Amino acid sequence: MRVIETERLLLRPVTVEDGDRVEELASDYDVSKTTLNIPYPYPEGGGKEFIESVIESEKNGKIAILAIVDKETQHLLGLINLNIAIPHKRGELGYFIGKPYWGMGYGTEAARAIVAYGFKDLALNKIYAAAFTTNPGSWRIMEKIGLKHEGTHKQHVSRFGEFFDLAYYGLVKEDYLKEANQD
Ligand SMILES: CC(C)(COP(=O)(O)OP(=O)(O)OC[C@H]1O[C@@H](n2cnc3c(N)ncnc32)[C@H](O)[C@@H]1OP(=O)(O)O)[C@@H](O)C(=O)NCCC(=O)NCCS
Repeated sequence: MRVIETERLLLRPVTVEDGDRVEELASDYDVSKTTLNIPYPYPEGGGKEFIESVIESEKNGKIAILAIVDKETQHLLGLINLNIAIPHKRGELGYFIGKPYWGMGYGTEAARAIVAYGFKDLALNKIYAAAFTTNPGSWRIMEKIGLKHEGTHKQHVSRFGEFFDLAYYGLVKEDYLKEANQD
């Protein structure tokens, strides 16, 4: 997988050496609480184990996952991925940014870049994502990068003993290309 460069970031392939840093950032309760797949408490050594498992999944095309890295410092700020439903050419977008780096536009910058990568390089037909309605940081990213609200599933998931509504956002390739041509 190639490296994607944006104004302030590099999105590069993950390596096992990223494991400890991923663990450091992902083990924060505030990062985990609006996701379904980041465990809390985070198991010791879980970062490395997670990276090893996604590198395996990448080999069969089921996921494209990239480290979000500060171009200047080379520090890993978060992860971003597309989980791919191969028969449908559809990618589900997911991401997290370490809490010290929230609110600086990094999530938006990374998401915009991986959506372009998904349509152009991975030839996906649709990219979608689901966010807890209580997580405006996430659904604002989707709105800002052009994903359209497709509906909200009431009390769709349970997390730490509470039910949450999930807002679904999506974009199909033909609409993405129309929007891109207007720029
Ligand atoms: C969601 C997340 C990725 C946002 O990343 P980020 O880099 O802080 O996002 P950005 O700085 O690009 O901000 C995107 C928009 O959301 C807004 N936003 C960010 N955090 C917000 C918050 N806590 N409350 C309200 N709005 C927020 C920003 O103001 C911005 O909108 P604006 O340009 O209209 O002001 C980050 O908070 C995170 O990793 N959370 C934990 C994991 C998670 O929830 N992942 C998503 C699962 S679907």
